[in-house]
Amino acid sequence: MPKIVILTGAGISAESGLGTFRDVDGLWTRYDLNDVATPEGFARNPALVHDFYNARRDNCRGAAPNAAHAALARLETGLASGEVLVVTQNIDDLHERAGSRAVWHMHGELACALCAACGARWDAPAATRPEDPCPACGAPTTRPDVVWFGEMPYLMDEIFEALTDCDLFVSIGTSGEVYPAAGFVRVASDAGAETLELNLEASANVLDFDQQRQGKATDIVPAWVAEVLGG
Ligand code: APR
Repeated sequence: MPKIVILTGAGISAESGLGTFRDVDGLWTRYDLNDVATPEGFARNPALVHDFYNARRDNCRGAAPNAAHAALARLETGLASGEVLVVTQNIDDLHERAGSRAVWHMHGELACALCAACGARWDAPAATRPEDPCPACGAPTTRPDVVWFGEMPYLMDEIFEALTDCDLFVSIGTSGEVYPAAGFVRVASDAGAETLELNLEASANVLDFDQQRQGKATDIVPAWVAEVLGG
């Protein structure tokens, strides 16, 4: 079981040029999330939803991991095997490209496509379309492998187990507005873990944390990792 569980959100990828959701000019100020991030929106206009995530995938391919992603990869290599787990709400692959190995994508991944009929997942091509046939069952029911509002995030049982067993829970670059992720701090804290928030500004649930540090992820995450590895 990991000793340190790290929850990441869009803020850790902001300095890589990927937009956040709720900041000024965030994605949800420019798009209606009901159109592109709900099963109902997908049923209404699947092509629009594929176009939206194809554009996200394109942005992601053009982005590089930043110093915060790199620091978390250093933390994992610097501690004993299995001691660090990153649970990310992000659908980009910047943690993996920075070198982190223990990464769980609770909201899915741009890198994968999902069959709405049989649940098969496969590596997504650069662009997906609703009529693409599923490689497993052949149905023309391809959707992005992204967890939308109203759907159950991935790996919830495993995540809760890790949260209740860890010594330290750290939340990085997330607004604390979206559950269940926003509730992880309380789960970890109630089970006895220390809790730390690293974010540009105080999140909606900052008061649930024992400690908080404010600043850009590329400054405060490497500084915190250096303390942990040096201490
Ligand atoms: N460094 C650190 N934090 C930053 C930076 C930065 N450079 N830039 C922005 N932030 C912070 C913001 O202050 C904000 O608190 O990152 C947070 C981003 O919050 P959101 O845009 O709400 O993103 P997130 O918390 O990941 O959203 C959760 O909502 O719709 C969705 O499914 C989507 O996974 C996403 C979920």
